[in-house]
Amino acid sequence: MGRLSGGAVNAHGVISSPEEARVPAMDHGFLYGDSVYEVVRTLDGRPVAWPEHYDRLRASAAALYMELPWTRAEIGGRIRETIAATGLPECTVRIVVTRGPGPMSLLPDGCDGPRLVIYVLPLRLPPPEHREHGIEVSIPSRLRNDRRALAPSAKTGNYLNNLLALVEARRAGGVDAVMVNARGDVTEGTTSNVFWVRGGVVRTASLECGILSGITRLHLMRDMRRAGLPLEEGAYPLDDLTGADEAFLTGTVRGVTPVVRIDGEPVGDGRPGPVTRRVGALLDELLRTERGDW
Ligand code: PDD
Repeated sequence: MGRLSGGAVNAHGVISSPEEARVPAMDHGFLYGDSVYEVVRTLDGRPVAWPEHYDRLRASAAALYMELPWTRAEIGGRIRETIAATGLPECTVRIVVTRGPGPMSLLPDGCDGPRLVIYVLPLRLPPPEHREHGIEVSIPSRLRNDRRALAPSAKTGNYLNNLLALVEARRAGGVDAVMVNARGDVTEGTTSNVFWVRGGVVRTASLECGILSGITRLHLMRDMRRAGLPLEEGAYPLDDLTGADEAFLTGTVRGVTPVVRIDGEPVGDGRPGPVTRRVGALLDELLRTERGDW
C-alpha cells in the first residue's frame, strides 16, 4: 500500500484512506450511536497517556454493557500498523468500538460482536492564538445530559448533546459552549473540561455534576496539587464561573485554552491570567512525562 499521508482508517482490519473506509450500514454504532470512542494525541510520535485512554475506553464500553475483546497491546498493535501506513510523524488517533452489525432492533443480542475502527489523522490543534489570547465561550440553554439518563462519564458515540450545544454556542458568538446541568451547576465544555479561578483558588465541576472524567483534567489536578495551587472540586452555580478572575478549558485537543469572555462579558480583565499561564506550563511538562508507547 502506498503512503496514506493524509491519514488512514483501519476499519476492523482493513486499512484505507479515510475517504474509502467502509463500515457496515447495519452496524448499531451507525444506527443507534451504540459505540464508544477515545481520542489520543502523539508527541514526538509517541502517544500521550495511552494506558489511561485504553482504561477509559473499557469503562465506557462497560457502561454500555459491552465488553472489549481486545487487550491494550492488541489495540496498540493495530494503531501502530495504521500509523505506519500513513508515515505521519504526529497524529490524532481516534479509536472507535461499535456494537457491530446486527438486526434492525435496539437490542444488541443479535449483533455480530464489537467492531474496532481506528482513525489516524494528522495532528490538528486549535490555532495558537486561542492559547495566546483566549477564546469566548457561550452558555447555551441546552443542558448537559443528566447522568441518570446518559452518563457523560461514558465517552459514547452519542455526541448529539454536545454537537447541538456547540452549534448553538457558535450562533451566539462563542468558539465553544460550556453547559450547565438540570440543577444549574457548571459541567463542562463540548469536548473539554472547564476550570476557573477565584481569589487564587482553582475550581472545577466534580464528577457528580455529570462530566467526562477528562484525562487532561485528572493529570492537571494532580500536578496543580503538587505545585501547591489551591484546588477545589464541587457543584458550583453558573455565576461562580461567570464571576471568576480567570477560566480555562482542558482536553486532549484543546490543551489548556484560556476563556476570556463568556457570552460577551469579560472574565476578569478579559485576558489570560497568571494561574492559567501556570497551568499551561504544567501541561507542556506533563505531555512530555506522560508520553509512552502504544
Ligand atoms: N474529547 N469532556 C468531554 C465531553 C470530552 O469529549 C472530552 C474529550 C473531554 C476532555 O477529556 P480528555 O482530557 O481526556 O481529552 C471532556 C475528545 C478530545 C474528543 O471527543 O475529541
